[in-house]
Amino acid sequence: MWQKKWILGNWKMNGNNEFNRNLLNSLVKCSIPSEVQVVIAPPFPYIMQASEILSDTSIMAGSQDCSSFAKNGAYTGEVSAEIIADCGAKFVLIGHSERRSYFNETNSILLKKIQNALELNLIPVFCIGETLEDRENGREKQIIAEQLSIFNDLSIKNIVLAYEPVWAIGTGKTATVEQIVDMHSFISNNILSLLGKNANIRTLYGGSVNAANAEDILSLDFVDGALVGGASLKFDSFEQIINSVRKN
Ligand code: PGA
Repeated sequence: MWQKKWILGNWKMNGNNEFNRNLLNSLVKCSIPSEVQVVIAPPFPYIMQASEILSDTSIMAGSQDCSSFAKNGAYTGEVSAEIIADCGAKFVLIGHSERRSYFNETNSILLKKIQNALELNLIPVFCIGETLEDRENGREKQIIAEQLSIFNDLSIKNIVLAYEPVWAIGTGKTATVEQIVDMHSFISNNILSLLGKNANIRTLYGGSVNAANAEDILSLDFVDGALVGGASLKFDSFEQIINSVRKN
């Protein structure tokens, strides 16, 4: 699983029972290249449906978030790592830019979420990325380093990161191949210096990945997969992204 390229579909706040069933059943029937790990993150209430439909397959279901509260209890509206694990989630996205911007999630909150996920043996997929303003001011690496500094407080050896420039998410603008390689190599060096040389790191790229650009992005050095939003909601485009790994 760790050696494979991850193609992670982040459904965000989309889907319904019938839509999900059709999309998941199509995925179950399609042939997935042996070098690919497909992962799906539906909204909380559909995690169980996804994990049941995917139960006899290599495709993993996961969650888009989990609570920063460690234990189940009186936290109305919250969903704990324990609950999502019980629903069959194998991983959890943490720190997606939409969570950071709409819900003011800071590193101290995100640290608790990562710890809660690890406690339940869920794989945290930690999302990082700079805004357009940060990039225009030449601060993109400083921002990424600040986001990665969370790992100063964690002693882990396996981590999945997702680099998603905020200005590329849902906008149709992807970073150039030079920008992606430059940032992914920076991330790799930065995290190895924090976690030690033998850390097992996977860094996915996200932000307007689609059937047309996936092959170029997935062939780049330091790119270990893709975090796909909009294009993961259509079977045809998601299948093409999955198959673009085979062409590399
Ligand atoms: P997008 O979203 O592919 O629609 O740009 C990616 C993400 O936010 O994870």
